[in-house]
Amino acid sequence: MPAPLTDAFITNLPKAELHLHIEGSLEPELMFALAARNKVAIPFASVEDVRAAYSFTNLQTFLDIYYAGAAVLKTEEDFRDLAVAYFDRVAMDGVVHAEIFFDPQTHTHRGIPFDVVAAGLFAGIDEAKAKHNMSVGLIMSFLRHLPEEDAFETFAQAEPWLDRLIGVGLDSSEVGNPPSKFARAFAAAGDAGLMLCAHAGEEGPAEYVHEALDVLHVDRIDHGNRALEDPALVARLARDAMTLTVCPLSNVALRNVDRLENHPIDRMLDLGLRATIHSDDPAYFGGYIGENFRATAAARNLSREQVVTLARNSFLGSFLDDETLSGHLASLDAYVKAG
Ligand code: HPA
Ligand code: ZN
Repeated sequence: MPAPLTDAFITNLPKAELHLHIEGSLEPELMFALAARNKVAIPFASVEDVRAAYSFTNLQTFLDIYYAGAAVLKTEEDFRDLAVAYFDRVAMDGVVHAEIFFDPQTHTHRGIPFDVVAAGLFAGIDEAKAKHNMSVGLIMSFLRHLPEEDAFETFAQAEPWLDRLIGVGLDSSEVGNPPSKFARAFAAAGDAGLMLCAHAGEEGPAEYVHEALDVLHVDRIDHGNRALEDPALVARLARDAMTLTVCPLSNVALRNVDRLENHPIDRMLDLGLRATIHSDDPAYFGGYIGENFRATAAARNLSREQVVTLARNSFLGSFLDDETLSGHLASLDAYVKAG
């Protein structure tokens, strides 16, 4: 008899979070507390009101609310509190390593200096590392609906922080803003020694995944679901062991997948893709990484082996050095053997 797959086994399974927008971890309770602290007006009467507004029909309907919610973040302390709340939460989900995104332009465009955002987030990250014995990397994401020149301006503002950032990403409204729009900005980031990721194939076509690979030369694809429409691309991704950071609850919330029971995560594994499971914007999409794993395992009737493969892929897809990676893989194996 194989060991049963329990929720507790999945929750405590060591894993890495590779696809998380820190602004998307802003829970309504913290949104209200920060609105009061900073005397910012928000168009909601209660926490329940906020949650009731979280019904999306596509990526843009979510982004409009996500950018509006971020308006309560003003001071270094706010960004620290946001980060600390996230790490405290996922320490309970078996997360031992996290590579998280932040969107500097969301804040600089409303007058918050880059340095305030970065200093606050790194303060929270340093606290979390000490408190939870977690390793953490921060990835600066460019907003793709803005011009490439704006990304370059942001890159210049990031200059004093570059040695502390691990990579750059590309997010926001995908359709109409192909990866090739950011060819020069990504080349500059690569020259600066940063790792490269891009959201591609979430709502946009498989062609955008090709562009992320061929034009941006990314090290990792965020989402990548629509690559499944292109068999030659699937073969290429499988051959190159290109990591796809898949976010099942996000896919359902933004209606890229009609229901979790129809999510293609196990099809991706069967095709030889290095798919992993992450949370994207947990405060908006109904669950952190543990819930994404548990709900998807239940909905797709995943085997224990498949769940362990997804966790293993989260480490293999990380930007950790070989020695640290091998330590995490050994811990994962020990956990599986013991459980
Ligand atoms: N897609 C694109 N941009 C985003 C997302 C997402 O799911 N979350 C936050 N910014
Ligand atoms: Zn995302």
